[in-house]
Amino acid sequence: MKATITLLPGDGIGPEVTDEAVKVLRVIEEKFHHSFTLNNALFGGIAIDQTGSPYPQETQDLCKQADAVLLGAVGGPKWSDPRAKTRPEKGLLDMRSDLGVYANLRQIRTYPQLIDNSPIKKEYLEGVDIIFVRELIGGIYFGEKERRDDYAKDVCEYSTSEIERITDVAVKLSQQRKKKIISIDKANVMATSQLWREVTTKYLEDNFPEIEIEHMLVDAATMHLLSRPADFDVVLADNLFGDILTDEASMLTGSIGMIASACLGDNNFGVYEPIHGSAPDIQGKAIANPCGMILSLSMLLRHSLDLNEEAIAIEQAIHNVLNDGIFTADLSKSNSVSTSTMGDKIAQKI
Ligand code: IPM
Ligand code: MN
Repeated sequence: MKATITLLPGDGIGPEVTDEAVKVLRVIEEKFHHSFTLNNALFGGIAIDQTGSPYPQETQDLCKQADAVLLGAVGGPKWSDPRAKTRPEKGLLDMRSDLGVYANLRQIRTYPQLIDNSPIKKEYLEGVDIIFVRELIGGIYFGEKERRDDYAKDVCEYSTSEIERITDVAVKLSQQRKKKIISIDKANVMATSQLWREVTTKYLEDNFPEIEIEHMLVDAATMHLLSRPADFDVVLADNLFGDILTDEASMLTGSIGMIASACLGDNNFGVYEPIHGSAPDIQGKAIANPCGMILSLSMLLRHSLDLNEEAIAIEQAIHNVLNDGIFTADLSKSNSVSTSTMGDKIAQKI
């Protein structure tokens, strides 16, 4: 197949892990006889430096022309003055909204090879396989904001249709899985959460009575995720709660460097990114873990290009590399390889 992918390496370790994903993509291209056109575009802090905008027009055009977007990370100390006119993160939020990618899928699995890396005891981790469905272009992230010297305001809004469309994504996933959704809210306090609870319940009752839904308050969820993570399968959350819970859940895997994500809209188009962020503290040290990025590529192949066999080949290669005891520094204190060696090993396994 022929496909066009826009690469947004971004800031911090973003370019380092993007290089490794490209390495793997080229191997997939050759082995499975595809032809991928890759276009690089400026995004985040580096785009602010060069164009004044974190999501410049040319980048917007390249994203819209592509079949999918692969994104490294944005942000860093250079651009983190909270009062700055524009920040790299603004580019990320503008892009998500502009491209209409309302559903953020984040998969949390434990790897037997990494089980000792998690701060959680082994016996709780066996069989953990959770998929978070986070609403990505609404809620408090996008509501009205105000900031004065002595006052600040962030408004959280959700409409029934926004809640229904994200619930539908969770339903489609749960149909392939355990047919149970845990929906997160703060319905004992927040009006948006009360609507969230009502709409999700009714949407399932009316359309998918075979899918079970359990509503969980977000504070309780943070606790249960650690004490009984294996009870979670599909988790549905709004933008803010989903952001917080997925960072927490990444610790079940042992390293946030392993976690991939997909941001999906209504067609096959998607933006794929590791959830680790720009990690400026380790930028340029060649120790970043490229697995989250390479697994994001595997999600891209599966969801946007319908190349399931290729996606599985990548996942299997990562398993095999871990089985060989090859780890980056976040996964092993004593015996680790560089970012590019990790990429090479994965590419070789494919
Ligand atoms: C994420 C990040 C972003 C978010 C930030 C960088 C704006 O934390 O993708 O989870 O909060 O959505
Ligand atoms: Mn986050």
